[in-house]
Amino acid sequence: MSGRLGSCSFGAVALAALLNVGVTPLYAQSIEEKTQVCAGCHGASGKPVDKTTPIIWGQQAGYLYIELRDFKRGDRKNDIMQPIASSLERQDMLDIADYFSKKPWPDLGQPRAPKEMAEKALNANRSVGCTGCHLDHFQGDGTIPRLAGMSKEYLTKTMDDFRTRARGNNPGMSDLMLATSPEDLAPLAEYLAGL
Ligand code: HEC
Ligand code: HEC
Repeated sequence: MSGRLGSCSFGAVALAALLNVGVTPLYAQSIEEKTQVCAGCHGASGKPVDKTTPIIWGQQAGYLYIELRDFKRGDRKNDIMQPIASSLERQDMLDIADYFSKKPWPDLGQPRAPKEMAEKALNANRSVGCTGCHLDHFQGDGTIPRLAGMSKEYLTKTMDDFRTRARGNNPGMSDLMLATSPEDLAPLAEYLAGL
């Protein structure tokens, strides 16, 4: 019985394909088709539509892949990104990560942090050692994200989410954010945004 039903539904799919109706299944879509939906929020030219949406153009490929995987697993919770990532297979995520990592990082035109703010941020970096992982000039590498030039609003939000563990996909980053003095968070966001 189930075999019969199976062949029936295959017949329907084959017929739809012959008549060229319905949507192209995900596996048959080109990378441009797969990433079309992303532009609605992350921006058609890499500049996110909303300031609390992160830049994904030019972000490290390993990191982009891990975030998509974590959204799909539910380790990183977000009402918008979880359903989007759930529809992606591992190979789609790797291809999408590679695709966006090769785009140029957009310039949001954020001002450099004033001297006093920058000094506070650099002090926090000295005590917590952010650049030990995020590397010189906060460019990141592999699974470590670039932070330089990310929007101040998103940085503020996500650092706060690490602290409250609302963003729970990397407990190590949460511990580090909790070890950072709360007064240093605003200077860090402003400093990183202005790099
Ligand atoms: C409806 C809006 C929307 C759409 C469409 C969307 N995103 Fe997102 N995306 C967001 C928001 C908002 C966040 C930040 C979530 C948070 O604060 O935790 C995000 C976060 C991400 C992150 C994490 C980046 C980081 O710096 O941590 C990745 C990767 C990502 N999106 C990739 C994609 C890809 C790939 C697509 C298309 C397949 C896509 N998004 C479509 C809104 C969207
Ligand atoms: C031990 C290594 C390590 C150190 C030290 C570290 N980070 Fe991170 N950070 C990471 C990793 C790994 C991630 C990616 C987490 C994930 O997979 O979601 C990350 C993610 C982040 C993000 C999220 C970026 C995004 O696009 O969502 C921010 C913001 C951040 N770190 C800020 C900092 C700051 C500020 C410091 C210093 C006060 C710091 N980190 C120190 C390893 C580190």
